[in-house]
Amino acid sequence: MASRKVTMRIQRFDPAVDKQPHDQDFEIELPAGITILKALNKVRAEKDPTLALRYSCGSAICGSCAMKVNGHARLACKTQVSDCTIDGVMSVAPIGNLKILRDLVVDMDPFLDSLNKAKPYLEAGNGSVPEHERTQRPEEFLQIDPSTTCILCAACYSDCNVLAVDENFFGPATLAKAHRFIFDSRDVDTPNRMRAVSAKTGVWDCTHCGECSTRCPTETKPLERIEEIRVKAMADGFHGNAGARHALGFRETVGKRGILDENYLPARSMGFLNLPGLLSLVPIGLRMMLRGKNPPLIPHKIDKLDEVKKTFARFEELRK
Ligand code: SF4
Ligand code: SF4
Ligand code: FES
Repeated sequence: MASRKVTMRIQRFDPAVDKQPHDQDFEIELPAGITILKALNKVRAEKDPTLALRYSCGSAICGSCAMKVNGHARLACKTQVSDCTIDGVMSVAPIGNLKILRDLVVDMDPFLDSLNKAKPYLEAGNGSVPEHERTQRPEEFLQIDPSTTCILCAACYSDCNVLAVDENFFGPATLAKAHRFIFDSRDVDTPNRMRAVSAKTGVWDCTHCGECSTRCPTETKPLERIEEIRVKAMADGFHGNAGARHALGFRETVGKRGILDENYLPARSMGFLNLPGLLSLVPIGLRMMLRGKNPPLIPHKIDKLDEVKKTFARFEELRK
């Protein structure tokens, strides 16, 4: 089998001697078709047995080999070296938003603890053990099918830009786990689950960057699940919070008035009668003004307004 020389630039960190992580280059001959996990094990076998990494199944099932490859989280056992080598070099680092313990190994506890926010178990209600299994029709299962495929690899957690600035955010995997039980036809705790994900740091704090779905190696695709929860929140009346009011305000200003009124949106989101909330916006408003970032008093007209209106009309049709 043809082979070629690759420089694997691997981030190293030994807490006993290093203050900061640093890169180390390993030049290694790799056969065609090799995965990053196998390449790392070859580095361990031939160059440096102290290189620490975590893996188990080697088959994209256990979720333990997520790491950053060229800056983005991927499963090492599911990714080919040839797809990630640029000019003969490939960089490998631990996943982000978690403390590095050693080399490519991170402390997974904050990620695993965050799942508890989703109460990741079925609330079947009557407290007694049923005589038969709790059944579900195929079409009911299809609603939760994608969110049951999560392998808890934390690739989404690693690359979520909201978690990078707010560790209290539920995070994409936890919201996908919440989806899995909110939409489970056998679960009786839906209102409480909806209340929890609608609160601050829940579904409405996601910025739609899409990184979680791009990085997810399964069909879970957290952003899509977050959107489904948001649609349900609106339909079930869980819109007494800043995030939902922001979405409704956006529909009012863009969809109905045909302008993007950025002066209206903060007050609409906070609630017009919420005096403490409105006052909390004053320092941000002043900072924006000082930096010349405040929106114009008379909002701009939207380009291609007809197309925007068509989109909203189509959305209303679908909603009905
Ligand atoms: S889409 Fe939302 S949850 Fe997903 S990575 Fe971006 S901010 Fe995080
Ligand atoms: S949602 Fe996808 S990326 Fe996130 S932990 Fe589950 S499988 Fe991994
Ligand atoms: S080693 Fe199990 S998912 Fe990669």
